[in-house]
Amino acid sequence: MPSQQKSGPEYERFDFLMNAPALFNAAATAAELGIFIFLSENPGSDFASLRKFTGVPEHQLRVLLQAVCAAGLMERTDGAYRNSAVAQDLLASDEPDSWAHTLIGWKEIYYPAFGQMTKALKAGTNTALESYPGDEPTLYKRLTHNPELEAVFHKAMAAFTLASINDLVEREEFAAVTNLLDIGGGDSTTTARLLERHPRMRSTVFDQPSVSRLAHGKEAQKFLDRIDLVTGDFFDTPFPKGSDAVLFSHVLGIFSAEQIVTLLKKAYDVLPPGGQVFIYDYNVTEDETKGIYGARLGLYFNILASGTGMAYPAEDFEGWLTEVGFENVRTVSELDYEHGFHIGVKP
Ligand SMILES: C[S@@+](CC[C@H](N)C(=O)[O-])C[C@H]1O[C@@H](n2cnc3c(N)ncnc32)[C@H](O)[C@@H]1O
Repeated sequence: MPSQQKSGPEYERFDFLMNAPALFNAAATAAELGIFIFLSENPGSDFASLRKFTGVPEHQLRVLLQAVCAAGLMERTDGAYRNSAVAQDLLASDEPDSWAHTLIGWKEIYYPAFGQMTKALKAGTNTALESYPGDEPTLYKRLTHNPELEAVFHKAMAAFTLASINDLVEREEFAAVTNLLDIGGGDSTTTARLLERHPRMRSTVFDQPSVSRLAHGKEAQKFLDRIDLVTGDFFDTPFPKGSDAVLFSHVLGIFSAEQIVTLLKKAYDVLPPGGQVFIYDYNVTEDETKGIYGARLGLYFNILASGTGMAYPAEDFEGWLTEVGFENVRTVSELDYEHGFHIGVKP
């Protein structure tokens, strides 16, 4: 019988896409079990060594390793297992910038919610939030009731931020900044990288109290004498004055146009003339047809995190900056992982 399977790059992509959720979970499980780090330290290990290391029953480990090999993250030659080049580069470490943390966070928090996609999109609200205790409207606030999961979230967030942040810290706009206000600065990972690059800079990191406690993480610890922590709800609590630049990194995209304008106005009000506002976020393309990281993020916001928001195109951010009164509004586009950097200056 002739083969019915279609061929060509588009069909290959379709085949991969159809199996991607299973392969993603296999990769995250291998990361959780420490397999990539083990193979980095013991390249060429055989099945028996991996079995002893993981403690996973023989048949189940056989199934898992086949999936990780099929995903292209591991190679097996004459019974000897090795990380593929990409797994060795991105997954074989426990350092704060390891993709392993991101995978585990997405597996624990993001993707379980995606089963509710049809329900949430039809309802027009983030129905997946129901499985998190509390009555607050966003995942970020409900995670405060679950410190363990909140730590997993921020470890994943910090790892992704570190993987994508080099373009940001090198931007010339930061060179003259002496007092940064980092709104929704999380565990201070972004601030720490900026302080490392710009020795004259200080930073005030504004986040929820439970998140600020995480600011004693590995990255931020080195700079605690140059970091001030301010806690509260950034919609209700006044922004502190005294900064010459305000940064929103991975924050505004979470929210609706109205909420974004509210936050940008608060930034405008505390800046001196000449003060700068910086938005660092994902952008989909102007025609809203491209951007797989942006696609994942927009869906996650609407199903789970906030019930609104998306990886807005650059034009939207520029429009809101102009509406609030900022001048010299511009975008540096096509930064790593579909990011854009949007700048405005208070006249
Ligand atoms: C996606 S994370 C971004 C973290 C960091 N800026 C980065 O780029 O890695 C969003 C941050 O906003 C904080 N956040 C969300 N809603 C908030 C609110 N209403 N008040 C204060 N912080 C909030 C969260 O706790 C979280 O740390």
